[in-house]
Amino acid sequence: MADFDKMWEDFEFVCSNCNACGLRESAKNVVIYRGSRTAPLMIVGEAPGAEEDEEGKPFVGKSGRLLQNLLEAYGFEEKDYHICNICKCRPPENRRPEPSEISACKKNLAIQFGLVRPKVILLCGSTAYEGFFGEKPVMKDVRGRFIEKKGYLIMTTYHPAFALRNPSAKIPIYEDVGRVLDKLRELGLVSSK
Ligand code: URA
Repeated sequence: MADFDKMWEDFEFVCSNCNACGLRESAKNVVIYRGSRTAPLMIVGEAPGAEEDEEGKPFVGKSGRLLQNLLEAYGFEEKDYHICNICKCRPPENRRPEPSEISACKKNLAIQFGLVRPKVILLCGSTAYEGFFGEKPVMKDVRGRFIEKKGYLIMTTYHPAFALRNPSAKIPIYEDVGRVLDKLRELGLVSSK
């Protein structure tokens, strides 16, 4: 087995056996990623919901379908993105993960970043932003612009679940994903679509 596959296998084993917070107790699956193992774009959401917990993959429920439609509308292919969450286990009743749960999951997320080595990160929603920047955002102020941190170009947008409740938010999400594609093209990291 190639080294990289072995590193992924070890990483998935570590995640699946993680008990760093209480969420694993009630979760059916540890939801690690979908998409490519190396991708120029990493998309980070909040935490798995019921469907994600069931399937063991992030963003496969209603908000995932909205996200997927947007990605496909822009011509993104699976090789271009790696989708994951700030927390890998479903919080009961889909509550927001607690700061202690986010911090317990950070170590594995950092390893995941080291494996995927994205250049651009799209944070979906305020929990993902808080997980990265350690403060609550005013979404309308932070969305839509790149922040450079530790060599990553980070864009924040609304969470797709928010856009399901507030359909007018689909427009800014659409614009922000477009900005992400423009940046990746500018960097020569996706083929022109
Ligand atoms: N919401 C998220 O933030 N992540 C998922 O995987 C699904 C819904």
